[in-house]
Amino acid sequence: MCGIVGYVGDKPVLPLLINGLKRLEYRGYDSAGVAVIDEGQLWYKKKQGKISGLELEINGVDSKASIGIAHTRWATHGEPSERNAHPHFDQDYKIAVVHNGIIENYVQLRDSLLADGYRFYSETDSEILVHLIAMCYDGDMAFAIRKALQLVRGTFGILVLSSYEPDKLFAARRGSPLVIGIGDEENLIASDGSALVEHTRDVIYLEDDEMAVVDKKGAKVRTLQDKTVFKAVEKLPFDLTHLQKGGYAHFMLKEIFEQPDTIWDSMRGRLLVEDGNAKLGGLQNCIERMAHSSRLIITACGTSWHAALIGEYLIEKYANIPVEVEYASEFRYRDPIVSRVDTVLAITQSGETADTLAAVREAKQKGALALGLCNVVGSTIARETHAGVYLHAGPEIGVASTKAFTSQVITLALIALALGRMSHLSAEDGREIAQALKKLPDKMHSILKQANHIESIAKKMVTHHHALYLGRGFNYPVALEGALKMKEISYIHAEGYPAAEMKHGPIALIDAQMPVIFIAVKDAVYEKVISNIEEVKARGGWVIAVVSDGDDTCTSLCDEVIEIPHTIQSLMPVLTVIPLQLLAYYTAVIKGCDVDQPRNLAKSVTVE
Ligand code: G6P
Repeated sequence: MCGIVGYVGDKPVLPLLINGLKRLEYRGYDSAGVAVIDEGQLWYKKKQGKISGLELEINGVDSKASIGIAHTRWATHGEPSERNAHPHFDQDYKIAVVHNGIIENYVQLRDSLLADGYRFYSETDSEILVHLIAMCYDGDMAFAIRKALQLVRGTFGILVLSSYEPDKLFAARRGSPLVIGIGDEENLIASDGSALVEHTRDVIYLEDDEMAVVDKKGAKVRTLQDKTVFKAVEKLPFDLTHLQKGGYAHFMLKEIFEQPDTIWDSMRGRLLVEDGNAKLGGLQNCIERMAHSSRLIITACGTSWHAALIGEYLIEKYANIPVEVEYASEFRYRDPIVSRVDTVLAITQSGETADTLAAVREAKQKGALALGLCNVVGSTIARETHAGVYLHAGPEIGVASTKAFTSQVITLALIALALGRMSHLSAEDGREIAQALKKLPDKMHSILKQANHIESIAKKMVTHHHALYLGRGFNYPVALEGALKMKEISYIHAEGYPAAEMKHGPIALIDAQMPVIFIAVKDAVYEKVISNIEEVKARGGWVIAVVSDGDDTCTSLCDEVIEIPHTIQSLMPVLTVIPLQLLAYYTAVIKGCDVDQPRNLAKSVTVE
C-alpha cells in the first residue's frame, strides 16, 4: 500500500528518493510523486503508473536539492491519476504533504475549507491535510501541523516539506507506520525500513501521536500534545542483501526457494528435540495464562488467516485448548464475546494490517491476553500486543506471501507443542513432533527440485480460466492457500474447498475445462480424498494431485501428479503448499503477469 520516503542531508536528493521509492514498490501502488526544495522553492513531479516512468521524467533534471519527500499511492479516494498522486500542495506552493492512511472526516473538513475559499486540486482525502496546515500556519510549522492534526479523525503517517522552513522534514503518525533512519550528517524517514537500509540500519520508530522534526543533524521527537519523549535508537534486523533478488527472476521465486532456511530460522533455538518440547522466549511470561485460557481466538487476514486455520487444528490436537479462527475484519466489527479468560492471537506477516490491528485493540480493550505472531520486527502489532513471537523469516518482498506462511505454520506448531507439553502431551509424543519438525527443511529441498516438472504442468494450466483446489483435514487450509496464490498472481479464478464439500455445489462446475487440484497425501483421510478424485474423473475433470512419494494409485488415477515426501499428518501443510506456490508462480510467469507486484494488490494493507 502507500509508501513514504524523505531525505535531508548533503547528497542530491532526487535519485535518492527514486531509489527509496523503488524499495517500497513491493508494497503495491498505482502512482508516485516527489517534492524537493531547490534554491528555496518547492519543485515537484508526479506520474501515474510505475516509478520507472517518474524516473524517466526526472532523469534530465538538473537539481541541487538535498531535501525532499516522495510517495507511492495506492488509490482509495479518487482514481489512480497524476492529479490524485501525492505530494499535495497548499495554494501558495509553500507546503507539500505526503500521507498514508485515511482521513475519515475529510468530507466535513473539505466542505468547511471550500466555504473558506480554499481550492482543491484532487479527489483525495489527503489533500485536506495540506490546506489545514496552511490555514494553521503562523510562522511555526511544527505548531501548525500539530494544530491541523487535532482537527482530523482517522489514520495518518505524514511527511511535510515546506519552503517556510526549508532545512527540515516534519513527520507525524497515528496508525500508519513511520521509521526515522539516523545517518551521518543525513537523516531519512520512511514508512518501511526497506527504504532506509542502504543508508543506515540505526532507526527510531515513531509511535502513534508522535511527531518528529528532522534536519541533517538529527531528529527531535515530541508528542502531538507537544510533550518531550525519549526515543531509543534501534537496529533494523536485515540488510540490503535481503532486499535483492540474489539471481532469481522474481522475489517470489527467491522466497519460495528460501523456505528450507526460513522455516529453520523460525525453529532455531526454540525447538528442543531431545526434550520433545519448544521454548518461545517471547511467550515466556504469558504461556501459563495462555495455557489456562478458556479458548484461543486466532485472528488474521489473507494468507495469515489460512495459517491460522492450520493453527486451530494443531493447537486443538496437541494442546487441547478450544480454538476459534476469525477474519480480523469481522472480529473487529461484530462486538465479539471476548473476556479476560480468553487469549487472542493475531497472525500477520507485516504487523501493520489495519483490520488485524483493530482486532488486537478490540481484544485488549475487552481484557483478553493479546498476542502477536509477526514477521516484521518493530511493527505496530508486534509493539501493541502484550507479548508475541517473531517468525524470523526475513523481509518478504513478493506481494503473494510464501515464506511467511510456512514460518507461521511452523511457529504455530511450536506453540502447540509447548502448550501440549504443559498439559497431556507425553515427552515421547513431543519428541516425535520435534523430530518431524527438524527434518522438514531437507524434505522441502526435495520438493523444490521438482520445479521443472511443476513448470511443465503450469504450461497446461495457462489456457484455463478457472481452477478448483480441494483438500481435507490439515490440507483443507492448504487448498485455500493454493487457490489464493493462483488467483493473486495469475488472475485465474480459483476456489479452495474442503474436498468433501465439492459434492454440495462445486461439482456442478466440473468438466474437461476445469482443472481440479487435489492434495491427496497418505494421511487419515487419504481414502476419502481418493473417492473425491474418482468423482471428478467420472465427470471428465482434469486432475492434478499432490501425492505421497510412490503412490501408484494416484499416479494411475490422476492426469498429473507431484510426489512429495512424507511427514506426520499435522505438519504436511508445510510440504504440500510448496508445489502449489510453484504452480501459481510458473502459471503467472508463463502468462506474462507481474508476479511480484500483481495488479490491485498491496503487500501491507493499512486501510480497512
Ligand atoms: C495482503 C497481502 C496478503 C496477506 C494479507 C495479510 O492482502 O497481499 O499476502 O496475506 O495482506 O497480511 P499480513 O501482513 O497481515 O499477514
